[in-house]
Amino acid sequence: MAKASFDPQEFRSALSTFTTGVTIITTRAENGDPVGITANSFNSVSLNPPMVLWSLDKSAMSLPAFTSNKHWNVHILSVEQEALSGRFASRGEDKFKGLELDTGINNIPLLKNCTARFNCRTAFIYEGGDHMIFVGEVLGFDKSERPPLAFQSGQYALAARKPREGVQLGATPPPECSYTEDLLGYLAGRAHFQLVAALQNVLKTQQLNEQQFFILSVLSIQDSLTIEEINTFVDYTGGAVTLEDMAALEEQDYVVLVKKNGSSRYVLTANGREASLKQIAVAKAVEEQIADQIGAGDVEALKILFKRLIKATDPGLPDLWATKEENDAKKTAS
Ligand SMILES: Cc1cc2nc3c(=O)[nH]c(=O)nc-3n(C[C@H](O)[C@H](O)[C@H](O)COP(=O)(O)O)c2cc1C
Repeated sequence: MAKASFDPQEFRSALSTFTTGVTIITTRAENGDPVGITANSFNSVSLNPPMVLWSLDKSAMSLPAFTSNKHWNVHILSVEQEALSGRFASRGEDKFKGLELDTGINNIPLLKNCTARFNCRTAFIYEGGDHMIFVGEVLGFDKSERPPLAFQSGQYALAARKPREGVQLGATPPPECSYTEDLLGYLAGRAHFQLVAALQNVLKTQQLNEQQFFILSVLSIQDSLTIEEINTFVDYTGGAVTLEDMAALEEQDYVVLVKKNGSSRYVLTANGREASLKQIAVAKAVEEQIADQIGAGDVEALKILFKRLIKATDPGLPDLWATKEENDAKKTAS
């Protein structure tokens, strides 16, 4: 075949726009050692008879194992298996070290916690340029509800779904109306209020307003803070915490003021901790309900997109989960 006249990097980059899942394909070498490789060249071929294919770089260390052993397992990886994908994409090291395996057909290694798994037997091997193409007959498979990992343009990605019926919230606004439902701020704001509706009911029974809820949340993560320190964490909500807010929480037995070494620090009481745990339980229950409605994979995708959005709009907030020293170091570095 004639040599390509185009830039191989560009070619690779154009090919990588084709979004795929990620698989690990395993077999055993002639000496019995387990062998495995990360591959996104996997594809379905035929339903009847059931067949799949994938291609292997001729320079891969695992090539002799796959050409000599007719049996191999394909594992469609779940979103939680990115690290496993990285491990099997590295050359030569002991990729199976410490991994718990299920037993597969002919003792071929079978990885756990995947989205789907296929037990295959080589039907054909074709030469395809610098790769070998393996076509396998599927002897058996299993499937779980775990959302799959995706790969796009050289990066791991999320397979969020677009429902067939679309996702329009209301009537299409007239063209002269510039306020549409596609404004990110409107969507984020409305989602926030709908999401915290159940929590608001709990707050009502606990006689807490939103500001006081923020204070309890901060203290449940970083106990023993001065009012100034509390404010560095909640400032971004637009409402400054006052001594009156803190006094109200003290009166309700949610916090106590502890004077130590000349500074006054607020600490959660047992009652305050219990109230906070109840709020977290409700937030988790709401999340589970949403996962049932839109799917765990889409909830995962939403979380990652929200984290990106929060990072992109971060006014320089201290990290709630870091130590004071870590936050001080971050502040001096920026
Ligand atoms: C997401 C992803 C997909 C990959 N797909 C393939 C593939 O389809 N075929 C292939 O030969 N290598 C593929 N690789 C590269 C191999 O996993 C990598 O070269 C591995 O080190 C080969 O292992 P071995 O040399 O021990 O056989 C992929 C890597 C990643 C990260």
